[in-house]
Amino acid sequence: MSICRTSPPTALAALCVAAAMLPATALAAKPPAGRLLASNCYQCHGTNGRGPGFDDIAGKSARELYKDLKEFQSGEEGDGLMAAHARGYTDAQLMAIARYLARQR
Ligand code: HEC
Repeated sequence: MSICRTSPPTALAALCVAAAMLPATALAAKPPAGRLLASNCYQCHGTNGRGPGFDDIAGKSARELYKDLKEFQSGEEGDGLMAAHARGYTDAQLMAIARYLARQR
């Protein structure tokens, strides 16, 4: 908030202090946006989850995507590349990614 860096009027100053205290807890508690997380996939799976690249991942059902991701994560499936990538996400994040990608037609 650039206005907080200059000298804000008193009423605003209080808001600036409140805002400065917020991020760490507020952002950590907020569930991740599937759209943002899914953008990590596009470098390999093509822009918006459709080629060129590896398999298309957009438009599959959320259930199928989530299952695939859990299998990669556990090492049950794949050659290790997806496992390495999938391991970095929590279940909630994988679900958010799967739901987002399933809505892309
Ligand atoms: C570094 C490149 C890379 C990134 C980044 C990546 N993938 Fe993959 N993905 C692959 C490769 C390679 C395969 C196929 C090989 C395999 O089965 O291990 C694959 C396979 C898949 C499959 C199986 C597709 C099918 O039809 O069988 C799904 C689903 C998938 N990835 C989802 C994702 C999601 C969701 C993300 C982002 C969170 C992601 N991938 C990020 C490389 C990547």
